[in-house]
Formats: sequence, structure tokens, C-alpha cells
Amino acid sequence: MSGLIERYRDELPFASADPVVSLGEGSTPLVEAPTLSERVGARVWLKLEGANPTGSFKDRGMTCAVSAAVREGAEAIICASTGNTAASAAAYAARAGLRGAVIVPEGRIATGKLAQALMHGARVVALRGSFDEALALVRELVQLHPIALVNSVNAFRLEGQKTAAFEILDELGELDALCVPVGNAGNVTAYWKGFRERGSAPRMFGFQAAGSAPLVHGARVAHPETVATAIRIGNPARWEEAMGAFTASRGAVRAVSDEQILDAYRFLASREGVFCEPASAASVAGLLAHGPGDARSVACVLTGHGLKDPQTALDQAGAVVPCEPELLAVERAVMDEATAPAARAG
Ligand code: F0G
Repeated sequence: MSGLIERYRDELPFASADPVVSLGEGSTPLVEAPTLSERVGARVWLKLEGANPTGSFKDRGMTCAVSAAVREGAEAIICASTGNTAASAAAYAARAGLRGAVIVPEGRIATGKLAQALMHGARVVALRGSFDEALALVRELVQLHPIALVNSVNAFRLEGQKTAAFEILDELGELDALCVPVGNAGNVTAYWKGFRERGSAPRMFGFQAAGSAPLVHGARVAHPETVATAIRIGNPARWEEAMGAFTASRGAVRAVSDEQILDAYRFLASREGVFCEPASAASVAGLLAHGPGDARSVACVLTGHGLKDPQTALDQAGAVVPCEPELLAVERAVMDEATAPAARAG
């Protein structure tokens, strides 16, 4: 299977002879969401970025950032991460035969992401500090050592990630609005770049978690908090560009509470059959809370797979039904409404 550099090479800064490090990323499903569409009164599609090779949209940017690093002769790559960038960087580094190091906030990264980074053989550094501190430190470190920085401050990351906008336009022809979760603000910047390069200008609606909403408040957040650890960021690197995208597209950046995020997270899994991670559900939480405005077609970006964060899922889901190995007991366990696991309300 070919990856996105091959698919969109004419619109990316790679020549045909350049090395390509790919895991077959991109070309992710864009599925209609009938229940959500009915609820908000617009046609809504879900862009399933969890279907990328490492389970998040980061692979789009990473194929480009790591291919460029190889082209430039780098031997090692590094990133700060809330988890997904780390998992993706580790995988692409392994693929390319480069050394990889990832700096993550200690105790604040979902289990699946940690397992990925470790399995791919990256050096995983657990910083006793926040993502924002980790990013500031790696930016200093790469001034001192010849290591390629693959955070979204790297322009190649945005080049890769803009292809998700191309895919949506290639499939739908046009789009009125995009809903996207916002953390370091690279992805919304990349989508806007992609839409503009194709002469399209859907409204960009960005959603931050209420406890980590610097763009909404117009001020850095020193101690960001949210259940959506992927977007627990108080000082986004792409602040100006993202605000420019919201303004130019006549969109908005808004906050959603953890409760709204978790409601949308359970709704997507139980009603649409789509399991995403909590941060991803912020896009749908925002659409449910604020409505589509005058948009008739809306795409919500579900940035990462639900399996990334099994602990939050288990905390939110109903309990299993214990059962003795006898027909009567099984019958009762399967049929009896009273003993069936009910999704926890609220
Ligand atoms: N959704 C998920 C699942 C993410 O992992 C991230 C960012 C975002 C949304 C926000 O995207 O930062 O471009 O605005 N995760 C980064 C990481 C910070 O380190 O994995 P953004």
C-alpha cells in the first residue's frame, strides 16, 4: 500500500528520487455519522485518523518529517509529546533505522502510547514537568546536537498533515465546516493550509479542553488539566497560525468541558460504532455543544484511536457480567435486562 507522499507528491516538497519513509499512512476512512447528523441538523462525516498505522493523525506529518530527516542525513530524531507524536516518531524512526528519543510528561500519557514508543525502541524520557516544558527543552537541545526535531514546529509535519484536507475534498468535493481538537495547534494550521492550497475555505472550528484552553482565553495556561491528556497543553507552538486560520475562515476556537468530551466519547462509541480517544471526541463535543451554525456539511476529525487509552475507556464503560459455566446462568446473564451492563449515565 502506498503512503501519502506517493499519493500527493505533486503537492508536497519531495522529488521522485528522494528517500521515502512510509508505513502506508493516510487515505483514512471518512464515514457518515447518521445519528450525529440527525442530532445537530447537518450532514456530518467523521474522519477516522485512528486508522493510520500507529493509530493517530501524527503519521501523516511523521512520514514527511522523517523522510526529510533522512534526506538531510540525520541519524537521530527527537520530540516532546503528550503521547501520539512519541508513538509515531518511534515507529518511523525504527522504520528508517534512526535513533529516536521522546520526552513525555511523567504519568500523563495514555498506556497504549507508552507501550508503542517503548516497543519501537525509542528512548522514552519521562519528564517531571509538563508538555510545554518538554517542548521548550527539546527546542534548546537540538541547538546543541545534530538531532532532527519532529514536533509540529517542523514545517514538514504540517506538509504531511495538510493531506487530510485534500482527502476530504477529494471525497466530498466541498465542505462547509471542519471541527477539530486543538492542542499544540499544528493540526488545525495544517488543515487550513491544505484547504487554502486547494482554493477551499470551510469554517474552521477548533475545540480545546476547558482546563487547557489558552487560545480561548488569549493567555497561556501554566498548569493545564484535562482528562484528554493528548491536548493537555498550555502554550501552543502554532498559536498565531491557528488564530489566523480561525479568523480567516470565519470560524472560532471554543472550550469544551471534560464532561462534554466524555459524553461525546461514549456517544461515538455506543451510537456511531466509532471508538476514538478522549481528545478526539472534543471535536464532536464542540459540534454538539455549539451546533453547526449555517454549515450544512461538517467533518469532525477523530484524531486518534480509542485503543490508545484503554484505562479511560474502562473507567467510562459499563461493567462485565460475571457468570457460572451453566446454561441457565448464561441465559440469565445474556437475556436479563436487570443484569445486563448498562452504560453509566452522565
Ligand atoms: N488529538 C490527539 C489525539 C492528539 O494526540 C493531539 C496532539 C491533538 C488532537 C491536537 O493536535 O497538537 O496539532 O493541535 N498531540 C500531540 C502529541 C501534542 O504530542 O501527541 P495539535
